Amino acid sequence: MELPFAEEYRIKMVEPIRKTNREQRVQWIKDAKYNLFNLRSEHVYIDLLTDSGTGAMSDRQWSEMMLGDESYAGASSYYKMKDAITEITGFPYFLPTHQGRAAENVLFSTMVKAGDFIPGNAHFDTTKGHIEFRHATPVDCTIKEAFDTTLIHPFKGNVDIDKLDEVLRNHPVEKIPCIIVTITCNTAGGQPVSMKNMKEVKQLADNYQIPVVFDSARFAENAYFIKTREEGYKDKSIREIVLEMFSYADIMTMSSKKDAIVNMGGFIAMRDENLYNQATVYNILFEGFITYGGMSGRDMNALAQGLREATEFDFLENRVGQVAYLGKKCKEYGVPVLEPFGGHAIFVDALKFYPQIPKEEFPAQTLAIELYIEAGVRGVEIGAILADRDPGTRENRYSDLELLRLAIPRRTYTDNHIEYVAAALKNVFDRRNEIKRGVEILKEAPVLRHFTVELAKL
Ligand code: F0G
Repeated sequence: MELPFAEEYRIKMVEPIRKTNREQRVQWIKDAKYNLFNLRSEHVYIDLLTDSGTGAMSDRQWSEMMLGDESYAGASSYYKMKDAITEITGFPYFLPTHQGRAAENVLFSTMVKAGDFIPGNAHFDTTKGHIEFRHATPVDCTIKEAFDTTLIHPFKGNVDIDKLDEVLRNHPVEKIPCIIVTITCNTAGGQPVSMKNMKEVKQLADNYQIPVVFDSARFAENAYFIKTREEGYKDKSIREIVLEMFSYADIMTMSSKKDAIVNMGGFIAMRDENLYNQATVYNILFEGFITYGGMSGRDMNALAQGLREATEFDFLENRVGQVAYLGKKCKEYGVPVLEPFGGHAIFVDALKFYPQIPKEEFPAQTLAIELYIEAGVRGVEIGAILADRDPGTRENRYSDLELLRLAIPRRTYTDNHIEYVAAALKNVFDRRNEIKRGVEILKEAPVLRHFTVELAKL
């Protein structure tokens, strides 16, 4: 008999979580103004809001925490982090930051000015926020296949090279400070970018001498997909693939809360010493001295260890496999999910789930609320609320992707939890016709509104 797949870890410490009842949840979500970010975490049974900063650290990472060097300058932890980054990504220069958006803030302060255009595959919301905050414009050049949730394509995160070429041809080069490729592409549903595509982007960018930035939060998951899906990479190790991937970038920003499996942390890495020197000024201003930039020594140590663990094939097979398990269960129950399944999350297609609810009433948010009420499971809307309003017209931006994301934290939940989530979703799906209306916005912030938006049920 073939041995079944099993985790490559065992559990040494547990954290109790509590079930609640429907009546309580109806009240709590109402008190939260129907915004799941406003819920207290103890009112959530299974928290799939994000895979960011929510992973379980290993015993090796916890022991690294004890070895943290908290010196203000020149801490050994800084050098540990530097060695890990250079070994795994190949970048010689780096700056620590407290998280991914801080890396964006420092880098864009150095590179982006008003009136610029920044093409790439669907930018993440903080990336878009930092670009638009500087009165520059992100230009989405994701391949069109990404917008069809049922179409099977191995690399739906790919950049459309023709579209990118058109953007580059139609704007003065000095107005395009960089191209950003997000690996994996969160906004497109945790979809990977192929090695071939990265290489093509880099070649095109080189023709115009425009630097390529990889937004690398889930770079290891991207490498796993290259190994398992792209011709020529089956026999390469994850580390070899990662090194080749980053050879097609000039700069990377990193939210270490994902593929470095730490609760807080980030960094920028680059090849160019000049750029490093310029970014250093902003890093000191916004984050801290260059050898800690917003991080404790202990966190830098855990991050260095986490980078090594997350680039192991066994870890990734288990991690991406658990996400796919949720996807398979959902499909089995007829729940419309985005395919192929993402690396870090399953995305439920709310337009197919609730075709009776118009886009103006936010079907994905409605579904997130229903799932919470059903079972205390917290997901997050990746749809029109998140997409925010156009900075010029202030109109809502509706897209063909109106999704509920169920992001799976790394090494945190068991397959029993996953089965519970799938069953909860099935129950919500089975009574989908009872839901006639969605929600409306009562109050919203000028940017990144989804975090604090207040809603009412219609
Ligand atoms: N880039 C990508 C692709 C991300 O997914 C995120 C965060 C960031 C940048 C910003 O990093 O949170 O450390 O400041 N994504 C989280 C999520 C919040 O839930 O997908 P951060």
